[in-house]
Amino acid sequence: MRTVHSLEDLRDALAGCRATALVPTMGNLHRGHLALVERARQLGGPVVASVFVNRLQFGVGEDFDRYPRTLAEDAAALVGAGCDILFAPDESVIYPEPQTVLVQPPPEADQLCGAHRPGHFVGVLTVVCKLLGMVQPAVAVFGEKDFQQLWLIRRMVAQLALPVRIEGQPTARDADGLALSSRNRYLSPAERAQAPQLYGVLCRVRDAVCAGAAVDSATALAEAELTAAGWAVDYVALRDAASLRPPGSATIQCVVLAAARLGATRLIDNLAFRIG
Ligand code: PAF
Repeated sequence: MRTVHSLEDLRDALAGCRATALVPTMGNLHRGHLALVERARQLGGPVVASVFVNRLQFGVGEDFDRYPRTLAEDAAALVGAGCDILFAPDESVIYPEPQTVLVQPPPEADQLCGAHRPGHFVGVLTVVCKLLGMVQPAVAVFGEKDFQQLWLIRRMVAQLALPVRIEGQPTARDADGLALSSRNRYLSPAERAQAPQLYGVLCRVRDAVCAGAAVDSATALAEAELTAAGWAVDYVALRDAASLRPPGSATIQCVVLAAARLGATRLIDNLAFRIG
């Protein structure tokens, strides 16, 4: 694996590579990220992984400063996963000047995580757009755990006619159901033991809705359950997976999404399922 930090070295490493597959990450890689790399390898050409903690997508008071930065371990894990090029730029490479040209997300970004993290998706879409421009991959792979993010990236790519295919990779989970996330390492042992409750309530919402329960009562019950257990809930919500709007009579594929804080750690998760 070749590790590059500058755009010049990235271009040099990419010279002669055809149809690369990009896995954009913020580092602190876990099994879920490595599954993205594995998927990228199966999709064809050389695999490029990027590691960049993107300040633009963090709000005031969020965890940008303490976000785990573990580049040496990440590089070793990427070698093991068969990655060909690691692009680990400094902030000055991605943002050589104040970023005043920004990607404006569609209105669907204002709900769910976007409602609780103003500006987050502007930062995500802007950096993803820049990474796609820098690497020019044929395909880019993102985790389905960030369902709203993936949905918005797909819209960006479609509406801006970017020449790349976007692939989603199913969420990797621990045996107790907890979705893998770099933020899990913030959890105390007691919080880690409690954290699978988030996935548990998603499963109960799915089961209730499939059994005919009203969506509002199923999600309200889930919020109440989490709150009673000590979580600070941002949302538990059901959406049509294709439109990201509340499900309607034509909805077939649903997704229940949740974000909640356990102590100082904000976790998100989602579960897609068919109804009807
Ligand atoms: O999902 C992430 O890790 C980040 O939001 C991404 C897509 C790498 C952009 O910084």
